[in-house]
Amino acid sequence: MNTKIQKTSPALFHHFRDVLSTQEILSALSREHCNFIQKVVYFDETDSTNTRAKQAAAQKPQELLDGTLFVADKQTAGKGRLGRSFDSPSGLGIFMTLVLKPVISPSKASMMTLIAGMAVCRMFQEFYAFDTHIKWPNDIVANGKKVCGILTEMSATPDCLHYIAIGIGINVNNSSFPKELSSVATSVFLETGKMEQRSLMIASVLKYFKYYYDIFLQTMDLSVLKQEYNSLMINTNKNVLVIHGNESFEAVAKYIDDDGELIVEQNGSLRKVMSGEVSVRGVYGYV
Ligand code: BTN
Repeated sequence: MNTKIQKTSPALFHHFRDVLSTQEILSALSREHCNFIQKVVYFDETDSTNTRAKQAAAQKPQELLDGTLFVADKQTAGKGRLGRSFDSPSGLGIFMTLVLKPVISPSKASMMTLIAGMAVCRMFQEFYAFDTHIKWPNDIVANGKKVCGILTEMSATPDCLHYIAIGIGINVNNSSFPKELSSVATSVFLETGKMEQRSLMIASVLKYFKYYYDIFLQTMDLSVLKQEYNSLMINTNKNVLVIHGNESFEAVAKYIDDDGELIVEQNGSLRKVMSGEVSVRGVYGYV
């Protein structure tokens, strides 16, 4: 018998519709043993999962559990860092916010962005054996383009953290992007040719997040994780432009330290860059 293995026609992908629901997400989480997630709040459409998390905290702070996960199929006002927006169309991406309430100093909250970045890279490795890199502090990059962005927000008094909201946006099944984004954005589908069930990716990211988060909680810094982070960082030894408001300077990015700050070299001396309101990009472009 002459059996020929048929290649899946690209046309078939147009019929792939990945439907998200609370049930889908819960069963993927239980498959990955993500039992630190205490509650899933799913929206077919919402403004922004980070905004939903913050609103839940403002309305009923006691009821917002450590380990609450907000997920949306579509966001109408997806937020990026530094007041930017995050394109969040229905059916194509992962838009989720993990709320945590650790007893840590508010100054450590920004480290969650770096931990989440490592978790996303590990998920890509597991699903696709596909190497991605981190553009410090919050972008995950595939072939020089952004495939994921992370926005960590928190509520705190100077010495007491109320909660951290870690917002993760991943471009998964997009086959194209709006014109203004197409030179800087990519998706898992564009890079691998594979459509993916988002609930499985969500559970995998959270599994790895928990792994790194537990290590962080033991040391309360990134001392154990920084070597791995540095090996994933795309900026290493690149000329970068560090932009803070109206000011900017050029330097060579070197590595992150125990606190997740970026160490850059400028005119032969080392200088620390804190993630706060800073944007770091390649001197000649995005990376
Ligand atoms: C960035 O690229 O600057 C960060 C993008 C973060 C996007 C995610 S999508 C889920 C969560 N909700 C938001 O409004 N933003 C984050």
